Amino acid sequence: MTAVALRLRKALSAKGLDWGAPVEHFGAIGSTNDHLKSRAREGAPEWSLALADQQTAGRGRAGRSWASPAGGLYLSVLLRPRRPAPATALIPLAAGVAVCDGLRGIDVEAQVKWPNDLLVAGRKIGGVLSEAASNAARTESVVVGIGLNLATTPRLSGVTADGATSFARETGRTPDRIELAAAILAGMALWYDALERGEESAVCDAWRARSVPWWGRPVEVVSGAERVRGLARDIDVTGALLLEVDGRLLPLLSGEAREVRLAARNGTADASREPR
Ligand code: BTN
Repeated sequence: MTAVALRLRKALSAKGLDWGAPVEHFGAIGSTNDHLKSRAREGAPEWSLALADQQTAGRGRAGRSWASPAGGLYLSVLLRPRRPAPATALIPLAAGVAVCDGLRGIDVEAQVKWPNDLLVAGRKIGGVLSEAASNAARTESVVVGIGLNLATTPRLSGVTADGATSFARETGRTPDRIELAAAILAGMALWYDALERGEESAVCDAWRARSVPWWGRPVEVVSGAERVRGLARDIDVTGALLLEVDGRLLPLLSGEAREVRLAARNGTADASREPR
């Protein structure tokens, strides 16, 4: 076990979490999610962890790449949920809540943005990539990957040039990556256990309380070639964004969402300032 993996175990145990599952640390790896997905296929236990200093083939949502230079947090965790949907659909949102609280715990006012972005002052500081493997009967595993810009601010694929930020850019400091990872994992354990107890609405409420406050405002969601505009109303227990379009609530399960701001002078829509 590397010194970093040992330090993470100690940080977890200092939070009262005895981590029985494997904790793997890599100087460099293609993708911690890919690694843990292959461990999952080999039968690795729930809460197995993979942490990397850098990734050479980091992946983001919607098939995008995730720039992963040294100085960021690249962490994946393996879950084996016992409850069926919709609880499993809320795992990424539960992870978002945990990451948000981890950042707030070190004085960065992060917010979640549907479905899985972490923002600070409107700029993207990180994201969550949740990948499930199912058989005909049930979800066998979910690998939750967390990427955070800490010391550096790489240009993120799918995000406008000034749409990304980092911990260092926001605070002038560099956080202790291992302490932050332990805090995030403690939060994940808390909210995942809530899901496993059937407390979906508690997770939804926690997510709403940390969300960008765009309820009632015009939002555009792009998913592949589809583009939908409406008023953001809420999320539901499946983690779907409820968009009001022509007076009806449309549940959206995936896509890139951004607030559409109306230009003050002529009332034209301006979606260009939001991360995408
Ligand atoms: C997003 O597109 O916003 C999600 C980014 C998730 C990146 C993390 S970094 C650790 C894990 N390994 C990957 O290849 N991706 C996720």
